Order: sequence, then structure tokens, then C-alpha cells
Amino acid sequence: TLEIHETIPAVKQHLRAFKTQNKAIGLVPTMGALHQGHLELIRQSKKQMDVTIVTIFVNPIQFNNPEDLQKYPRTLEADLAVLSEEGVDIVFVPSEKEIYPEGIFMEFDFGTMEQVLEGRFRPGHFNGVAIVVSKLFHIVQPDIAFFGQKDLQQVSVVKRLVSDLSFGIEIEVVPTVRETDGLALSSRNQRLSPEGRKIAPLLYKTLTKCKDELLMGGDWLKIKNNAIKKILNPIEINPEYLELVDEADFSLVQQPIPGKSYAICIAAYIEQVRLIDNIIFRSG
Ligand code: PAJ
Repeated sequence: TLEIHETIPAVKQHLRAFKTQNKAIGLVPTMGALHQGHLELIRQSKKQMDVTIVTIFVNPIQFNNPEDLQKYPRTLEADLAVLSEEGVDIVFVPSEKEIYPEGIFMEFDFGTMEQVLEGRFRPGHFNGVAIVVSKLFHIVQPDIAFFGQKDLQQVSVVKRLVSDLSFGIEIEVVPTVRETDGLALSSRNQRLSPEGRKIAPLLYKTLTKCKDELLMGGDWLKIKNNAIKKILNPIEINPEYLELVDEADFSLVQQPIPGKSYAICIAAYIEQVRLIDNIIFRSG
């Protein structure tokens, strides 16, 4: 049965019992409004680990846009029902005061990672993510923490966090779960009108097309400009970014070279709703 904890001491005490029995602990950090994407992370953890703990905390310090925070869906009752059905062992639902009793004084700086894509367009976002993820890692001390490919740059930042600070936690990445029309599942999709929902799959279609053209040897700048002018602009999508990056370090790339892993990443507003997606591929 699902145990619900709201305080750090309570969740730590519960976990201590499992740790003395040498149980493998899997952590799935979330902000709630759970969908099939989150559930895929949970199922991976359930499959591999003895104990699965999910955290639900809408982390205010990672929102650079106050309206996005205010409009973030909160569906705790439904979330708890789903977690119980999935056979999750523990859910940690702390208050803001529990996590930030004295506010926050320190700051993380992820260097070049903060200068591109999400880092560039959401100032302070990765600092907020890194602080809350560090706290959750310290509180739970899991063996493996599960993150989604949907937020690919977040995965990169968390991996650097773990390595730079020697957390000794394994990070497992779960592929993006999509609707049948290709749209990546996201809590923010609920805010789209039927019309917005209809055009949203074009983000992933654009990524797929760009990848195919790159693999056929096309020139990235031409492919990118063409995608923006011929696919996105006609339906009034003006992406915040559409970039090709080296998957290893998120440095911007002009043209892929054979035998390496790349990602094409996009962020775009559809009706005031900011959506992101990415596709990973290996070149020739
Ligand atoms: P949240 O947006 O709730 O996402 C929780 C986890 O679910 C993240 O690892 C995210 O990448 C993953 N996820 C979301 N949509 C997915 C999809 N369609 N397919 C696969 N995985 C998906 O990401 C956060 O919360 C926060 O930044 C957090 C890490 C909890 C720190 O506050």
C-alpha cells in the first residue's frame, strides 16, 4: 500500500527501514499532474528496484515565468489514486516550507549549459532544478533516479550535478512517451485549445523531418530555415529555438560528423503554452 509522507523526517525514517534490509531504492521526482510519461518512469523503477518512491513538488524556484507557475496543473487526489494503482511504495509530497524553510541562498552555475536552449531562454531554471534535485537526492539517497528524455537538457544537467558533487546515484533515462500523433506527453498539453492541440504534433514532425534530411547529408542551416519558414511559420508557430546539439555536452553544432550522437531540440509557444521536444540520433 502507498504510504504518503509530507515531512523530511517521516520519509527518511520510512526509508531507513528499507535501507537496513539492503533494498534497492528507485526515485522518480515529479511535479505531479501525472500522465503516461511519468508512469513510464515509475514502471521502469518498479521493474528494476525493490522500492519505488515518487516525489510530487511543484518547485517554485525553477519557474522563471510566474504565470507558468500559477497555471501549473495541480491534481493531487488523482495523482495519489494513480500511484496507488501502480503499486508505488512511498510518495513524498512536501510543502514549500518543508523544502525551503529559509528560502535559498546558494546558486548553481552550469556554465555553457546555461547559455543554450532552455538555459538561455529560462534564466535560473536549471539552478532551481539542481537545488531541488540535490535536496531530493540527499533526503532519499536512492540507488537509481529516473528521468525522462523529454527534458533532455535537464538530464544532462542532472548527470553533471551527480558527477561534479559525487552523489553516487545512477541516472536512468526513459524515452519520451508520445500520443499516437507524435505529440510528447506533457502536463502543459491540457492548456491547449482543440485547435492548438491539432497543430502541436507538428513540433515532433518537424524534428523527424530535420533528422531525416540531416541523415541524407543536408546542410543544417538550410534544413532549419526551411523547417521554420515552410512548416512552422505557416501555422503561426515561431519557435523560440530549433537547434542541433552534441548530445554529450549540449554544445551547438553546425553540421554533424559521422559516428557521433546528436539531438535536435525545439521550444515553441502554441497559444501562450510553451512546449519543448527533442529527437536523438547517431550520424552515419
Ligand atoms: P515533471 O515535468 O513533472 O517531470 C517529471 C519527470 O517526468 C521528468 O524526468 C520528465 O522528463 C519526465 N517526463 C515528462 N514528460 C514525459 C514524457 N512524455 N515521456 C517521458 N518522460 C517524461 O521535470 C520535472 O518535473 C522537474 O524539473 C523535476 C525533475 C521534478 C524537478 O523539479
